[in-house]
Amino acid sequence: MVAKTVPKEDLKKILAAGIRVPDHGALNPWRIKVITGEKMKFIDEEIILSEFKKENLDANETQLATESKRLQRASVVIAVLSTPIKHSKIPEWEMILSSGAVCMNLLSCAQSLGYASQWLTEWYAYNNKMLEYLGGRKNLDKISGFIYIGHKTEEPNERRRPDPEKIISYL
Ligand SMILES: Cc1cc2nc3c(=O)[nH]c(=O)nc-3n(C[C@H](O)[C@H](O)[C@H](O)COP(=O)(O)O)c2cc1C
Repeated sequence: MVAKTVPKEDLKKILAAGIRVPDHGALNPWRIKVITGEKMKFIDEEIILSEFKKENLDANETQLATESKRLQRASVVIAVLSTPIKHSKIPEWEMILSSGAVCMNLLSCAQSLGYASQWLTEWYAYNNKMLEYLGGRKNLDKISGFIYIGHKTEEPNERRRPDPEKIISYL
């Protein structure tokens, strides 16, 4: 993945696909933060690197260099937050599933448009400073993922895929 610009029209399409998901009760129990340009650098340095340093006092130069450029690997990073609400009929589980669907739609749309795209959490999706910076409520909301979008330098390698015989059975 290389970080060349993603045209605004493509980003709009990707975001529109992202929020067009199954959502029981139309509660919209998710939020999206689009991170680009200087904000990526800011988050890399002031949140990711700074939190990493706090937890890893003996980190070496290579590790610090990696942490200081995490988001900047992409052209755009879309953070998806699961923001469930209390509801008398609709279980929180379904709201969480719906936020996964947001991530998957963003990813599928970006990949269908020919972009390199990856759903990552890494360690900083579980960091409270990151959660709160993105507008999440501590102990209530969760980061479902960061959807990295950039340009391909080559086709990704295919991975080992599940054996359908082991996963799928007919009743
Ligand atoms: C919730 C979630 C979090 C993930 N986080 C990571 C991660 O932090 N690092 C990573 O290498 N892959 C992570 N993955 C896996 C990648 O998204 C992806 O499956 C992998 O890069 C291979 O892509 P492919 O399955 O499309 O070939 C995560 C997947 C999910 C569903």
